Amino acid sequence: MLTISPSHQPFHREMTVPGDKSISHRSIMLGALADGVTEITGFLNSADCLSTMACFRALGVDIEETKDRILVHGKGLHGLRAPSVVLDAGNSGTTTRLMAGILAAQSFDSTLTGDDSIKKRPMKRVIDPLRAMGADISGAAGNDCAPLVIHGRSLQGTDWMSPQASAQVKSCILLAALCAGVPASVTEPALSRDHSERMLRAFGAEVTGAVHADGSATAKIPAGCRLLSPGRIEVPGDISSAAFFLAAALMIPGSEILIRHVGINPTRAGILTVLRRMGALVTEENRDDSLEPCADLRVRYSRLSPKDTDEHGNFVIGGGLIPALIDELPVIAVLATQLPCRTLIKDARELRVKESDRIAVMTENLKRMGARIEGTEDGFIIEGGVPLHGAEIDPHLDHRIAMSLAVAALSAEGDTVIRDDDCVRISYPTFFRELLAL
Ligand code: S3P
Repeated sequence: MLTISPSHQPFHREMTVPGDKSISHRSIMLGALADGVTEITGFLNSADCLSTMACFRALGVDIEETKDRILVHGKGLHGLRAPSVVLDAGNSGTTTRLMAGILAAQSFDSTLTGDDSIKKRPMKRVIDPLRAMGADISGAAGNDCAPLVIHGRSLQGTDWMSPQASAQVKSCILLAALCAGVPASVTEPALSRDHSERMLRAFGAEVTGAVHADGSATAKIPAGCRLLSPGRIEVPGDISSAAFFLAAALMIPGSEILIRHVGINPTRAGILTVLRRMGALVTEENRDDSLEPCADLRVRYSRLSPKDTDEHGNFVIGGGLIPALIDELPVIAVLATQLPCRTLIKDARELRVKESDRIAVMTENLKRMGARIEGTEDGFIIEGGVPLHGAEIDPHLDHRIAMSLAVAALSAEGDTVIRDDDCVRISYPTFFRELLAL
């Protein structure tokens, strides 16, 4: 348990945030499947990414760790060896779903499991396309959930229509096709984060992507791609981690924070769009467009007041923007409690199947802090201008819930106690230390 007392001092700070989680996972995976050695700098040393690393070590990949870099000795597309243990993805959906694609195309069998949260998360969304490719994969408990039992075999190509805009589903299919040497395309209702496509291209695979007139998007990989290490991958700071500090500066009058070298890939940076729509002063400096676009983000406290409300005066967040800020919706919900209007968050049903049911868990906890919030099937209705008070918070072991409510605690009246605060180790082990430094 951790107690947070509200802050009455404005924050002035220059900081960095740890490496991007999605890019860190992929750097290990593609590094392992490539020919050559990949040096990774800025790798996120958090529980989720360490789960990916442990899985690849169990598959025979040599991964060296030093204080400021990781060296992955690639095995090539056909060099993984059968694991002698059950592969453990821990709490990580990205590890589970992307590995499922890689493992389905191997010449050996494997079992992939994870913690209690992972065992409840939907895996049918990857089982279905993998079976369409000819894979032999099933949930051990007969419920389309992990543990997943995978009998590796050769696969055929697919043109998959995914009902969800999900980078994990898209990447699972692209990686399965890569490992099987077959072509595949994945069409999703809106463009999800495109880190896999960018990194596959950096490793020499001719992956293409297109966004269609109706907002749907297709990614394609041709048959017979091989990966060649680009030598070095620099992982930028995680915008999902930066989001908590951007929000913190907007909760406390007079604050200003500069966060250096944050990934601002447009498929991830939806929070910047929403903050600006709320009236926040957020600027991008020192932009650098390499494998992933990055910039220093400066945010100054601003009195938030959305201009583009609907005809009833509601601030609406929904549609094709949702995949670009899905992981930031908990902290956006916190900010919404302080807007001078009602906020409607829609089209975010996916929040129900994240590390926790984030609609239920955020509603329960923000209510405890005095917020007027209702969960809907696919989002929230949040009344603005409601002062928050301290409360005992149960994040249901969900890292992003714990960090979002820690931000809420900064401007609440009285102390807030966060149960199981250690869950932040999943994506941001030093989060509370940084918060204290503020
Ligand atoms: C991720 C994709 C998203 C995101 C998750 C990380 C990834 O999930 O919420 O935190 O690294 O591909 P979905 O693919 O389920 O939308």
